[in-house]
Amino acid sequence: MQPSLAVAAQPVTRERFAIHDAAAAPISSFAADVRRGLTAAPKFLLPHYFYDALGSALFSAICELPEYYVTRAEDEILRERGAEIAASFGPAVRLVELGSGSARKTRHLISAIVERQSTLEYIPVDVDAGILTASAHELLTDYPQLSIHAICGDFREPAALLRPHLPPSDERTIVLFLGSSIGNLDPSESGAMLANLRTALAPGDALFLGADLRKSPSILEPAYDDPLGVTAAFNLNLLGRINRELGGTFDLASFAHRAFYNETAGRIEMHLVSRKAQRVLIDGYEIAFAEGESIHTENSHKYDDATLRTLANAGGFTIEQRWTDRNGYFADLLMVAR
Ligand code: SAH
Ligand code: AVI
Repeated sequence: MQPSLAVAAQPVTRERFAIHDAAAAPISSFAADVRRGLTAAPKFLLPHYFYDALGSALFSAICELPEYYVTRAEDEILRERGAEIAASFGPAVRLVELGSGSARKTRHLISAIVERQSTLEYIPVDVDAGILTASAHELLTDYPQLSIHAICGDFREPAALLRPHLPPSDERTIVLFLGSSIGNLDPSESGAMLANLRTALAPGDALFLGADLRKSPSILEPAYDDPLGVTAAFNLNLLGRINRELGGTFDLASFAHRAFYNETAGRIEMHLVSRKAQRVLIDGYEIAFAEGESIHTENSHKYDDATLRTLANAGGFTIEQRWTDRNGYFADLLMVAR
């Protein structure tokens, strides 16, 4: 849906845009998290470090892949049901978005909301300051009704980030968490995150959650192991980022991308597997890899209705509405704060 043409273009002024950097000492925490992950058994790296400038660009490319149905399925829901979803939010809202990225799909909701109210405050949160600033500028140019307070920080503990930006208001706070980014957290972390988010909200405020649904491994696995190798590049970029930012000596060609569906845990797992026995230097310390040893880089949990209900309950939310795409691959849920 195109932005409404009825409102005159507004310049992107300081009154309409502010960015708050809540990412305290990001480089030292990257260094500490990498060391902790690579000295653990089994080795792991945290998935939010995928998203530097190159990682965000590779994620955008993933969203265009024929095999990565996730973005298209949620885009269908928001495009086709945007007006109905905006109506479920109510007459006067302010919009928070966790892990906003390019905010492409969000545009369907923003378009539908500004049909219903004359101004809209949008508070996107993302670890990648570059994509946050670029997407905010594009949105402000296209939607004169918007003002944006962007927050660069880690969404895993959202209450502390959001509280200063959510003063008491007559507007209902709606928190978008799209794309099944919740699935990149382990079940205990996602429950704790929603409970933490709930403390920054008032009863009746709502979380609008995108969740990828369980389906056949024959659909899931190619979405995370595409023949063009884009997801492999996205995964390997983590090692590239360690080389660039921490002076690591990873030879990217010596690691293989591996993605598979773990049926018992209901999740896609991504790993980087060492093709040979090797040693890597990072910032003055050495990490040894056996041939075939893996670094676990990401989980992407897939949901059914029962797990989603448990998650909502753990966070203090009640599922009030549910929308799905025609294939039944993906669901967006309106979860209301109790
Ligand atoms: N919501 C968009 C983007 C999903 S990609 C969509 O549905 O397509 C995940 C986004 O969340 C990226 O922009 C990444 O930078 C951000 N992100 C990942 N982990 C994060 C974390 N722990 N804290 C804040 N942002 C995070
Ligand atoms: C951002 N997140 C929901 C994506 C996912 O599907 O888990 C990240 C991703 N990893 C590999 N491909 C996409």
